[in-house]
Amino acid sequence: MLIRRSSRADCKSSEITPEVVYRERRRFMAASGVLLAGSLLPDWLLAGTARYGQVPEAAAPEWFARQLQGVRWQDAPQDEALTPWSAATDYNNFYEFGPDKGDPAANAGRMSTADWTVQVDGEVARPGRYGLEELFSEQTLEERIYRLRCVEAWSMVIPWLGFPLAALLKKVEPTANARYVRFESLVDERVMPGVTSNFARIDWPYVEGLRLDEAMHPLTILAVGMYGRILPNQNGAPLRLVVPWKYGFKSIKSIVRISLVAEQPVTTWQSMAPQEYGFYANVNPQVDHPRWSQARERRLPSSLFSPNIRPTLMFNGYAEEVAGLYAGMDLHREY
Ligand code: MTE
Repeated sequence: MLIRRSSRADCKSSEITPEVVYRERRRFMAASGVLLAGSLLPDWLLAGTARYGQVPEAAAPEWFARQLQGVRWQDAPQDEALTPWSAATDYNNFYEFGPDKGDPAANAGRMSTADWTVQVDGEVARPGRYGLEELFSEQTLEERIYRLRCVEAWSMVIPWLGFPLAALLKKVEPTANARYVRFESLVDERVMPGVTSNFARIDWPYVEGLRLDEAMHPLTILAVGMYGRILPNQNGAPLRLVVPWKYGFKSIKSIVRISLVAEQPVTTWQSMAPQEYGFYANVNPQVDHPRWSQARERRLPSSLFSPNIRPTLMFNGYAEEVAGLYAGMDLHREY
């Protein structure tokens, strides 16, 4: 983003489970599903364990555990490897917890996600402050394996667990005036060193926004978990947005407020550097960032000897599903 520390930002290869080991472990865990099924662990836990191996356990609220029993799992992609859990949870952008990639994992554990509520307001028939259980109790938890492409030109493939944002929006009933959705993250100075140090000159809270049709698109989800587990704090617990065809900064973490609005909202990175970060932020290999090319990306895990560079795809590979949203727009101007 604005402050780029390339040498420190690179993932050390020693920090990451080699891909081949990870895939072998997944295959083994899947194959041993019958064995595990004979143990005393509950079925819903076995489902996640059989798929993703020994990712660390974390206490999950009752509503999440219950909904994990009915997850609509997705088949693993044939053509791409999932990013190892260790890379997805140790190499993060969450500036509230500090500027370095390891800061969120080091600091976010102090954030409490108990009794989390989301304020829903603006152009809706049913405004209110909702608990997560209230928002999602009637929904089926879905696994969505998506590519995540950061504007900094690294990428991952992550198996999220979540719900279509459209389901929440329908529940609160947008009025005819609603044209955009504005999202706001938690700000808690007591546990967020990045907020008090103000290193990046960010005007907190972190704010993001989508056009209403983007928000209603079936690929847009609110994630509450990943790798068959509850979402770790550094990845945006307890509730984050995931919009897979846009640069990662649109996927706002630890959401506390969702507002339906008539005007395009002012968003964090766009307001700080509009010539570098647009409102749309659609992944587009033909529109370079003013300071670097967006034509290629570094798929994590990567190292000096195995950089794992690949071409970036239009709309991050989701053009078939989303290109129609931007028909007639000049994507060089509205980036
Ligand atoms: N949300 C908040 N609240 N604060 C942030 O700093 N960083 C964004 C996005 N959401 C950010 C945020 C950026 S730049 C990226 S690339 C993704 O989160 C990274 O998500 P990950 O750490 O789970 O990979």
